[in-house]
Amino acid sequence: MSAILKVEGMTHRFGGLRAVSDFNIEVPEGAIYGLIGPNGSGKTTTFNLVTGIYAPTEGRILFEGRDITGAKPFRIVQAGAARTFQNLRIFGSMSVLDNIRVARHYTTRSGFFRSVLRTPSFKREEAAVREESMALLELMRLEGRATEEAKNLPYGELRRLEIARALATKPRLLLLDEPAAGMNPKEVAELMGLIARVRDEFKVTVFLIEHHMKVVKGICERVKVIDFGETIAEGEPDEVCRDPKVLEAYLGKRGA
Ligand SMILES: Nc1ncnc2c1ncn2[C@@H]1O[C@H](COP(=O)(O)OP(=O)(O)OP(=O)(O)O)[C@@H](O)[C@H]1O
Ligand SMILES: [Mg+2]
Repeated sequence: MSAILKVEGMTHRFGGLRAVSDFNIEVPEGAIYGLIGPNGSGKTTTFNLVTGIYAPTEGRILFEGRDITGAKPFRIVQAGAARTFQNLRIFGSMSVLDNIRVARHYTTRSGFFRSVLRTPSFKREEAAVREESMALLELMRLEGRATEEAKNLPYGELRRLEIARALATKPRLLLLDEPAAGMNPKEVAELMGLIARVRDEFKVTVFLIEHHMKVVKGICERVKVIDFGETIAEGEPDEVCRDPKVLEAYLGKRGA
């Protein structure tokens, strides 16, 4: 299987801090790949680098074989990689459905004139966008919330709305930053099923940051563990969770 995402020797410094150090990964197409590590270990920074929020100090990022190092975030979305954020970025005063439609328009062809003139092809496109957006809401079990202002949704539903919104851009790679954060155990179990379904139905590769070991063990085929920006383990979840270096990093035995 070929790698949809390949990162070579990626390092990022914030002033004197090496937040990510010599990061290397090959995420196989179709995989659910986990990135784990204690607080502040550099997980979100890794995603920020891959999705163009920062340009790495060193290294190369290849998406489907194309060098995207330093490309702007919207270019990376258009290239086919979409993400969710640890601190949700939902438009609170827009309806749930409009949050999806806005994202969907990233990939539609409507130019300014076609939308002002409301040409037949524009109207057809609008109808298709609406239908596809509703299908995404159904998949995420949010169809009953379509017309509600997004800010009224409970936390677990907002996380699912973010996933739906990322999917609306028709990505081939979906990056999820702690999708289960703030969810109760029932919601976490449901989410695991949903992520697996999304991978199968949308044929996307999933690269996810997670704190819950249960989620990682439940759905990831492969996991990478980082600590202080450095890779400390990589492999199948069961094997990685037993690794003494990983246990030490998680249980905070360092220096004890
Ligand atoms: N914009 C920034 N400027 C300076 N330092 C930063 C910036 N973003 C992150 N850092 C630092 O880089 C390190 C890695 O942070 P990062 O957010 O990537 O960790 P994380 O693994 O996602 O942590 P968490 O589990 O808490 O989400 C931390 O020490 C953090 O304080
Ligand atoms: Mg983070």
